[in-house]
Amino acid sequence: MKHLLVVLTITAGVALSSAAAAEGDVVRGAQVYRACVACHALEPGLHLTGPSLGGIWNRPAGRAEGFTRYSDALRDADFPWDVAAFNAWLADPQAMIEGTSMVFRGIADAGARADLIAFLERAGGAEGAAQLVANGVISEVYLRGQAPKPIRDAPDNARVVAMRHCGDGYTIETADGAHAVYWEKNIRLKIDSTETGPPPGFGVVLGAGMQGDRYSVIFGSLADLEHLVSENCKDR
Ligand code: HEC
Repeated sequence: MKHLLVVLTITAGVALSSAAAAEGDVVRGAQVYRACVACHALEPGLHLTGPSLGGIWNRPAGRAEGFTRYSDALRDADFPWDVAAFNAWLADPQAMIEGTSMVFRGIADAGARADLIAFLERAGGAEGAAQLVANGVISEVYLRGQAPKPIRDAPDNARVVAMRHCGDGYTIETADGAHAVYWEKNIRLKIDSTETGPPPGFGVVLGAGMQGDRYSVIFGSLADLEHLVSENCKDR
């Protein structure tokens, strides 16, 4: 009788410790993770709309190194990203942390959440997403998500050396000596201050959207934007 009790205690102990690990299916979870790719990268330190999820497993909430855009609510949170935290967050982020800036309505299906959590334990844990790519569980595009392609080596005809605003238009001058005039409402000015951004001292013009008449001009810093864009009607 005494013997049996000991066995029961040990079994209960094992059940408890395995409850701390995610129990879903990693391969199915990788499919569910598609809902996250638009805003998150798995490469550590690569921040997009949301912080990198590389190394997220058991990390304290709101503490991804180098991510400076947390909402007050998440920055002030005090818990680690474990199974229980992920389960509540993925079911309904706004309900768990009121005021979070993550725009995601949640995953109602508990099975899909468990699969996703199992995937995040692997991809955001010590093993890392690169290992899952090597094992063929996920494609490489998951690592960088929707991070822009680097534009450092843009050709001269895309390198902007001056933008002159006059009336309702911009004259855009490029490093190949050409210039063209555009309606101001078809031009977006952006900054990419990370390593995917343009070389210092230049803007880079990229076609944007469906119509061929819309462009983005991307600068590497606010200083470059201020230096290269001017109100100027006499040199057009
Ligand atoms: C529309 C963009 C968007 C989508 C889609 C999205 N997220 Fe987020 N996520 C964010 C933003 C922005 C934050 C920062 C929120 C804040 O500061 O309140 C964030 C924060 C997080 C955090 C907290 C990170 C930390 O360092 O504490 C986790 C975990 C997370 N997201 C996981 C996911 C997962 C998993 C998915 C897919 C099911 C997902 N997110 C989908 C934008 C998104």
